[in-house]
Amino acid sequence: MQKFETARDAALTLRPDVPVYCFRPEVLRADARAFMDAFPGETAYAVKTNGEPMVLETLAAAGVKVFDVASPGEFAAVRAVAPDAEMLYMHPIKAQSDIRLALETYGIRTLSLDHEDEVAKILRIVRALDLDPATITVFVRLQTKGHAMYELSKKFGAAPAHAVELLQRCHRIGFKVGICFHVGSQIEDADTYERALASADWVRNRADVPLAGLDVGGGFPAEYGYDPRRKKPNIPGTPEILTQLKSDLAEWGFSDLPLVAEPGRVVVARAFSLIVRVLLRKGRRLYINDGIWASLSDSWTGKITLPARFIPDPARVARKGDPKTVSAFRVCGATCDSVDILSRPFWLPETVDTGDWIEIGHIGAYSLSLRTRFNGFYPDTFVEVAQPFDEGGAADGFASLETMAD
Ligand SMILES: Cc1ncc(COP(=O)(O)O)c(C=O)c1O
Repeated sequence: MQKFETARDAALTLRPDVPVYCFRPEVLRADARAFMDAFPGETAYAVKTNGEPMVLETLAAAGVKVFDVASPGEFAAVRAVAPDAEMLYMHPIKAQSDIRLALETYGIRTLSLDHEDEVAKILRIVRALDLDPATITVFVRLQTKGHAMYELSKKFGAAPAHAVELLQRCHRIGFKVGICFHVGSQIEDADTYERALASADWVRNRADVPLAGLDVGGGFPAEYGYDPRRKKPNIPGTPEILTQLKSDLAEWGFSDLPLVAEPGRVVVARAFSLIVRVLLRKGRRLYINDGIWASLSDSWTGKITLPARFIPDPARVARKGDPKTVSAFRVCGATCDSVDILSRPFWLPETVDTGDWIEIGHIGAYSLSLRTRFNGFYPDTFVEVAQPFDEGGAADGFASLETMAD
């Protein structure tokens, strides 16, 4: 992989017409270590967030020994780069054949569920493989309530009374049991974990079975940009949330249990930025070489404000407008699909034009992993960049949370 000091150096040297991911392994290592040092239990990186081999390898080398996986593709990806790593199969709803593969081929011994039919599926395979249920840990996924940019409890999790019943059922079978939850991705309310712990405490007391662990899931917020025309959002960062979580765990009497967290976004978001090129400026519209079917699907639901850095093409001498004035531009993606228009505008210096580049920062989570091959576009060019995005001077643009009139 070619190495550059900054993304600007990469853009001006390579003059790329295709999107280029700027990987910052040092940032990834630092963010992973910061989480592991602050969380009082095992850190199981959520592979779905970004399962690129370079990410998994860097994390394994940084000391991540446990990975949260959800599919055969993820089992294989982890095994390929970290053969000794432990995998937790934390997707609550699984194909029978995938459970078999997990237990038989990959030696996975920790799974989650939120329904009795899932218990039956797991038990069928455990019996078929003649495994001792006591070697398997089943985490019952509890529904939670809170505010996150991406709610997950609409889809997964047992209500508290149901969770009690599931814990007792799994315990009777002879499985080791634990409680897990996921408060939603990129939480917006620092008390969310405490509410989930209160609910887990209620479930624990009613179930009255020995617990083998508590898994607090993901949700820890990554740093993104913000709209400088508004008040900076007053959401505590992950370090403060982890300090609070540690004291909440003690207060609710969970500190003595083996603890697990499954962070994704907070570990990998800052480790990548993306250089895109403006293929055409048409009035207040910018047509770029990436879009909602490639790296920008998650980031463009309009929920997250991404920072951007303008990289003007020095080859363009004549420019219109004031470079210090930042204006809203509608951003259209690379495919022929008219849905491929980002839902929110990008605010960029007025002088932006055809042929310029834009570096979109903090794009490591749920971007590469959501790429499609639609229309034959599949961004897959990587460079290594040393300087963290935030250290390159203030970002001079951002994706707005506002909609834009056409
Ligand atoms: C089961 C599970 N664990 C962990 C994660 C990672 O969450 P986050 O990226 O918010 O840390 C997710 C995200 O969807 C998930 O579904």
